[in-house]
Amino acid sequence: MTVELPNVLEVRDLHIRLRTDNEPMTLLEPVNLTLAPGRVLGIVGESGSGKSLTCSAILQMLNPRRMDVSGTVRLQGRELNAMSAGEMQRIRGREIGCIMQNPMNAFTPVYTIGAQFVETLRTHTGLSRRQAKEQAIAALTRMNLPEPASLMRKYPFQLSGGMLQRVMIAISMCLRPALLIADEPTTALDVVNQLQVLRELDRLRTECGTSILLISHDLGVISQLADEVAVMQKGRIVEQADVYQLFDQPVHEYTRLLLQTRPHPLRQKEDHCAAGE
Ligand SMILES: Nc1ncnc2c1ncn2[C@@H]1O[C@H](COP(=O)(O)OP(=O)(O)O)[C@@H](O)[C@H]1O
Ligand SMILES: [Mg+2]
Repeated sequence: MTVELPNVLEVRDLHIRLRTDNEPMTLLEPVNLTLAPGRVLGIVGESGSGKSLTCSAILQMLNPRRMDVSGTVRLQGRELNAMSAGEMQRIRGREIGCIMQNPMNAFTPVYTIGAQFVETLRTHTGLSRRQAKEQAIAALTRMNLPEPASLMRKYPFQLSGGMLQRVMIAISMCLRPALLIADEPTTALDVVNQLQVLRELDRLRTECGTSILLISHDLGVISQLADEVAVMQKGRIVEQADVYQLFDQPVHEYTRLLLQTRPHPLRQKEDHCAAGE
C-alpha cells in the first residue's frame, strides 16, 4: 500500500472581509493555494494586492473582531482555523517559520544574536543551552556567515539586513519547519544580499525539505526560486501556473504587464553568470 504524503499547505476558499459599521468590505476574494513538500510557491502582485493579508490569515494572526475570515487553512492535513491561540503559538516558529521584510523587527535590540538564537531553539526543542549554542554556531557556519562565534556575541544593530535575514534562515535550518513563509524577504536588501538570501532559502528547501511560500512584488525575485507562481491583483488570484509556463504563456493581462518589466528566468540566470555571479 502506498501512503500519499499530504500537501504541506492547503488553503481553500480563504475569504477575508473587513468588518465595518455598514457592509463588510472584501479584502481578499476566495483564494485557493496548495503547496507540496519541498516545493516553492511564489505569490507576486503589486503593493496592496493582499499578499501579506494571505500570510497573516495562514498564520492566524488577523484580529477576528476586525476581520471576518472564512475558508480552511490546512497544515499537513490539520485545520489551523480551529486551533487555539496556544496551539498556534507552538506551531508558529516550530512548524511554520517566518521571514519578514524588515529583519530588525524579528529581533529584540537588547539581547545578542546568540542569546536570541539559543532561546528560540530552546523554546521549541528540548535542547540544553550548550547543545543549542553548538547547533546555532553550526547553522551560522552553514549559512556562510563569517566568524559565527563572534557573531553570536553581537547585537542585531551590528549586523546588516542581509546578515540578519540569513540568521533567520539559520534558525529555520535548526528548527526544520514544514513550511516557511517568506514575505518580501529580500525587498530591503541590495542586489548582492538579495541573491545570497535567495540562495540560502534554496538550501533550506533542498537540505531540510522545507516548503516555502515566497511573497514578493518583484517577479524577478520569484522566478529565481519558485516552482509555481500565483499572481495577485486587488485581493484575488488572477493567474496561477508553473513558473516557466507563466513566463512563456502568460494568460492574464496583468501577468503580461508584470512580465514586460522583467527578464525571462532562464535568460536572467545567464545574465547573472555573465555578470560574474
Ligand atoms: N489590518 C488591516 N485593516 C484594514 N485593512 C487592511 C489591513 N491589512 C491590510 N489591509 C488592506 O488590505 C489590502 C491588502 O493589503 P496587504 O495584504 O498588506 O497587501 P500586500 O500585497 O502589499 O502585502 C490593502 O488594501 C490594505 O489596505
Ligand atoms: Mg505586503
